Amino acid sequence: MSKLQVLEIPHPILRETAAHVEVVTPEIQELLSDMLETMYATNGVGLAGNQVGKLLRVVVVDCGDEKPDPIKMVNPEIISHSENKILHSEGCLSVPREYADVERFETVTVRYLDENGKEQTRTTDGLLAIAFQHEIDHLDGHLFIDYLSQLKRHRLLKHLEKRRKKEAQEAEE
Ligand code: NI
Repeated sequence: MSKLQVLEIPHPILRETAAHVEVVTPEIQELLSDMLETMYATNGVGLAGNQVGKLLRVVVVDCGDEKPDPIKMVNPEIISHSENKILHSEGCLSVPREYADVERFETVTVRYLDENGKEQTRTTDGLLAIAFQHEIDHLDGHLFIDYLSQLKRHRLLKHLEKRRKKEAQEAEE
């Protein structure tokens, strides 16, 4: 296993659509393991292919409370969802240390292939449902900041830019 580099905005790969995986090969299994390791090392709860520079529909998620509950998904898709939506604060490893409230479906049913290429269907709510929606968005080139008003998005990006400049200066000193 090896840790991968997580791409941050404005990297163009984050805005591209990831390709369907035809077969879950040993290479895909290794990629999923590496992504999980990378996610744990960076204290994330989810990571999508685009974020590690792989334009493939692969996602890892772990919203386990006390013990780890890793989920590896290939070609995940939301096949149904609740009418009801909830508002929750989201962050993203590709938009480092910025958070904002985003509206998501409260309950979703996701269909995907597991790491053995077996089809799985999972219905969930709460944080895991939010994570599924956030990660599947990545595969279509969407980021959580896309859901914000122009004003809020602008503010968040300015804040990120300011912090990056400050950190770069501090690194020079
Ligand atoms: Ni993200």
